[in-house]
Amino acid sequence: MSRSSDKSGPRGEYFLDMQKALKAAGIATPTLVVDRNRLNANIDQLMQDLPDGMGYRIVAKSLPSLDLIGHVRARSGTDRLMTFNLPMLLALSQAMPEANQLIGKPLPAQAAKNYFEQMPVEQVDAARNIQWLVDTPQRLQEYAAIADAAGVDMAVNIELDVGLHRGGMEPGDALTGMLDQLRKSNRLSFAGFMGYEPHLSALPTALGWRDRAKNGAWDIYGAALQSAHGIFDEPTMQAVTRNAAGSPTYRLYKNTDIANEISVGSALVKPMDFDTELLSAFQPASFIATPVIKALDQTRMPGLEFADGARKMLDGNLEKTIFIYGGHWLAHPVDPPGLSYNSTFGRSSNQEMLNGGSEIAVAPDDFVFLRPTQSEAVFLQFGDIAVYDNGAIVDRWPVFPASA
Ligand SMILES: Cc1ncc(COP(=O)(O)O)c(C=O)c1O
Repeated sequence: MSRSSDKSGPRGEYFLDMQKALKAAGIATPTLVVDRNRLNANIDQLMQDLPDGMGYRIVAKSLPSLDLIGHVRARSGTDRLMTFNLPMLLALSQAMPEANQLIGKPLPAQAAKNYFEQMPVEQVDAARNIQWLVDTPQRLQEYAAIADAAGVDMAVNIELDVGLHRGGMEPGDALTGMLDQLRKSNRLSFAGFMGYEPHLSALPTALGWRDRAKNGAWDIYGAALQSAHGIFDEPTMQAVTRNAAGSPTYRLYKNTDIANEISVGSALVKPMDFDTELLSAFQPASFIATPVIKALDQTRMPGLEFADGARKMLDGNLEKTIFIYGGHWLAHPVDPPGLSYNSTFGRSSNQEMLNGGSEIAVAPDDFVFLRPTQSEAVFLQFGDIAVYDNGAIVDRWPVFPASA
């Protein structure tokens, strides 16, 4: 049996600088760090990728902090947000009443009702800037009843199933019936369509699979637009939102024939799940930094010590053991290079064990850096985001409360 080779190596300059900045800022608990320079480069990359006339909508759930969203708004110059739950909708309505919010998943009618009850009266104008996402004729009836009972107007965006099969409407009589109902309603209006298609990025380009699915998605979207053109006049159709895409797929849109805006959040902080070919120009801009609690020169398995020597002989990545402050996050260690979880020891949210090869050189109170696999849940687990810029922690950005 051959020995697995030692994957450890010297620490990266980038992370050594970030470690220095964290220590200088007196930080000594697990912390979510956003690199503002890299974030800015990612925002600029996104904006420069957009074809003429394509609008940009910020996916709020993937950048879950008012300050982070505010920063992205200022740099990208957009006033469009995509919002996914009631607490975030209320918070954004109050903090950014002028921003247009498209709800990213259809909310239960009761949640919509709660929104109108919970919004302070003086801020109820923000409600005019919401596009309520509706996926079925049934939900449209429910929303119509809320609008009538509360005496409020509601702009409705219809979710299309363009091939993801996560629900939504397909072109046909039922969709035409909904559009017709919207045209006739005094309280509801037609705000547009939303057709999300992240499945396209997972399909192989070989054999034309991705192109075939992409053309299929756009045919469906085009047919829905045709139906709407049959019901609404030209000025209404010129003004409606035609939303599509997400981080994995926005680069497939080279003109505004189908979509007139794309939604992107995750790519701007680039968690690991977004390490795709289409997003290769984006840089990882978010990290979990956590202190080393213990650094040991050997790896010992409780109750299995008799096999420690043999295990180490077979695996060059079991030379060193460290225990970090916290753990068990949706994340993977990236610095020092060569660290990995220990499946025999198991995961821990309190003091997680990481193992590595002979070159791992960290001491207690140094930092280990991990990259989140996604942002929406992970960003909410560490309190205020530490904003890193050119060698210093320059700001702290509070995050939304963890709620769905
Ligand atoms: C409707 C919708 N649009 C767009 C996105 C894209 O978000 P991100 O850019 O963070 O992947 C999502 C993510 O879940 C979504 O549900």
